[in-house]
Amino acid sequence: MRRSFEKKVSLLSAFLAVIVLLSSCSKSTSPKDPEKDLFVIGFSQVGSESDWRLANTRSMEETFTNAKGYELVMENARQQQENQIAAVRRFILENVDLIIIAPTTEEGWENVLTEAHEAGIPVIIMDRSVNIWNKDLYLTNVGSDFLNQGNQAVAWLEKETEGQFSAEDPLHILHLQGTYGATAQLLRTKALEVADEAHDDWQIDAQLYGDFTEAKGYEVTSEYLNSNQDIDVIYSENDNMTFGAMRALDEAGITYGEGGQVKIITFDATKKALQYCLDGKIDLCVECNPLHGPLVEELIKKYRAGEPIDKIVYIEEAVYTRQNLTQKFIDLRTY
Ligand code: AHR
Repeated sequence: MRRSFEKKVSLLSAFLAVIVLLSSCSKSTSPKDPEKDLFVIGFSQVGSESDWRLANTRSMEETFTNAKGYELVMENARQQQENQIAAVRRFILENVDLIIIAPTTEEGWENVLTEAHEAGIPVIIMDRSVNIWNKDLYLTNVGSDFLNQGNQAVAWLEKETEGQFSAEDPLHILHLQGTYGATAQLLRTKALEVADEAHDDWQIDAQLYGDFTEAKGYEVTSEYLNSNQDIDVIYSENDNMTFGAMRALDEAGITYGEGGQVKIITFDATKKALQYCLDGKIDLCVECNPLHGPLVEELIKKYRAGEPIDKIVYIEEAVYTRQNLTQKFIDLRTY
């Protein structure tokens, strides 16, 4: 009696072990559910460093839904490229249908993209870019024209300050930089540095590292203001660093915006920044459009239909000052 009970128990354990083994195998090789037949997208997102990034994540989640036939497997890299590379390797093992990467920085992608290519998995680069020799390793690069954003900002500054400064008494610029090596940082910085070279009446007094976060923007600006308050312009490479810098200026009693000591140029144009702009606290908002979801979906549809797609696709963007903003426009902004 006891022996037959033990036998049943050991049979049951063996059965359960096989079930567990089978389910873990299918999980590590394929997340696809054949019943639902979803198109599985592995998405490696940079992180959640800014309001822009949160809006970008939301746009992807709202676009690639189960109801529309997608399964979006998103991994947050917490701004570390090594986390992104590990995530892409997991996607390859899981044999997803397509991989989307919003790369933290431009360098270091050749190997993992070659692995995806060899596995036959198409890759879309979104938001920023990668600097690789073999462009066949990805389908397309969808995102912002970051150099154009920077050029628009400096063109505005040139117009605003024309004839007011000289080589002896130059325009003092404080430059807040985003994550080093990210396309958004490299090209916004390039635009400012090229313009600065061409202007003997401009002077970049400092370039501070804000990593696209509000906390860092506040920290480095506060520290800087302890020893130097002679600033005419803050050129801040994203809204969150700008919000941090504004807090630091408030604490130091330095005025900014319309009629203030410091002009503020910011990139992203999120709802909060636009409101500050309309209220006269920020002078220029250069838009960086985070709503990539629908555009990426359109390209994926083309790819699946066997249609050609462009290697670089820029998203529509604009530039805002107090003059071309309305409260109604800001109220309708979703991010
Ligand atoms: O790559 C886009 C940039 O990254 C946005 O300007 C910034 O807010 C984000 O973190």
